[in-house]
Amino acid sequence: MQVKTSDKAQKIVVLGTGGTIAGLSTPEKGAGAYVAGQKPVEELLAGLAIPAALTGLAIQSEQVAQIDSKDMDLPVWQALLRRCQHGLAQAEVRGVLITHGTDTLEETAWLLELLLGPLLRGLGKPLVLTCAMRPADAPDADGPGNLRDALRVMVDPQAQGVLVVCAGRVMRARAVQKVHATRLDAFRSIGQPDAGCLVNDPAGTAGRGVSWSPQQEPQGMQQGLGTRDARGVAVTGQACAPLLAAALDAAVWPRVELLYSHAAASAALVQAVCDADLARRLGSPPLRGLVVAATGNGTVHHELEAALRHAQSCGVRVLLATRCAEGGLRARVRSTAGQDEGFSTTDLSPLKARLALMLELLDGR
Ligand code: SIN
Repeated sequence: MQVKTSDKAQKIVVLGTGGTIAGLSTPEKGAGAYVAGQKPVEELLAGLAIPAALTGLAIQSEQVAQIDSKDMDLPVWQALLRRCQHGLAQAEVRGVLITHGTDTLEETAWLLELLLGPLLRGLGKPLVLTCAMRPADAPDADGPGNLRDALRVMVDPQAQGVLVVCAGRVMRARAVQKVHATRLDAFRSIGQPDAGCLVNDPAGTAGRGVSWSPQQEPQGMQQGLGTRDARGVAVTGQACAPLLAAALDAAVWPRVELLYSHAAASAALVQAVCDADLARRLGSPPLRGLVVAATGNGTVHHELEAALRHAQSCGVRVLLATRCAEGGLRARVRSTAGQDEGFSTTDLSPLKARLALMLELLDGR
């Protein structure tokens, strides 16, 4: 792990994890071909026109990983969490910036929000992720602009919690989703407006600045899994500390699988993922939870539903999220008194619901 430090008092920590923003072209494999996660984060920063708002600040970079984010895994997440925790604990660090691939960026952002969000708000420091859709050596690479914008957001006094900066948008971790496979403006905020956007200074002297949307309900205070504890109490920074420690210590996190309800669905997939012998043979931990990307407003194909009820009666936590792009389900927690035979529902996207359920199970809830 390389660490480059300058000795100035106030600094920003930039953690590199790979992605297309650090990708390099492989023209021998065809036009437009490239490999993600090649160029060191230190080189991404070298030669970047640093926004004037950062004058006097030192930038410390560190290569935490160098991967295509499709391959994101627990060890990289744990390394990233450790380096974020370490950076944020230093009084002179204003905030942490992460360069990341676009493909699983929303998962990493939400994980960081769940585990570090309350701490960040307590410290008044932001954690910003940025990315790119074109490799670093493309003539029209979007990475440098996104990186500059992200640095600019980082030093804005209103920046708080976990934010994602891409194509001039500033988006909150809870809302951000990759919605397009190829265009530069690949992300949207779902269920709430963007947190803000980057605007050019009309006089053209001060570079770009942040225009924030009117204040929303603070993230982490909304209804839904991952935002409140079992008693419905909003999770605080202190309450998050034991969960963060558990997440860092665990060799494996509770296994939660994600599946779709769709036309002509059957029980087969549920039976396969619940099969403890199969899991043992494959070296997987036993299944603890199932997130179902349900149809419409939380309905499930009747064959799949029967299998899910059986899984739930065997102790597997079942959580429904909608497979629709917008209009999340109204969050409802299944009664533990056995009065309510339904499934818990969440307004989170299926991907984010999976992370929230993993952490709830890790937390013993
Ligand atoms: C990745 O997610 O690492 C590759 C794709 C991208 O960054 O756009």
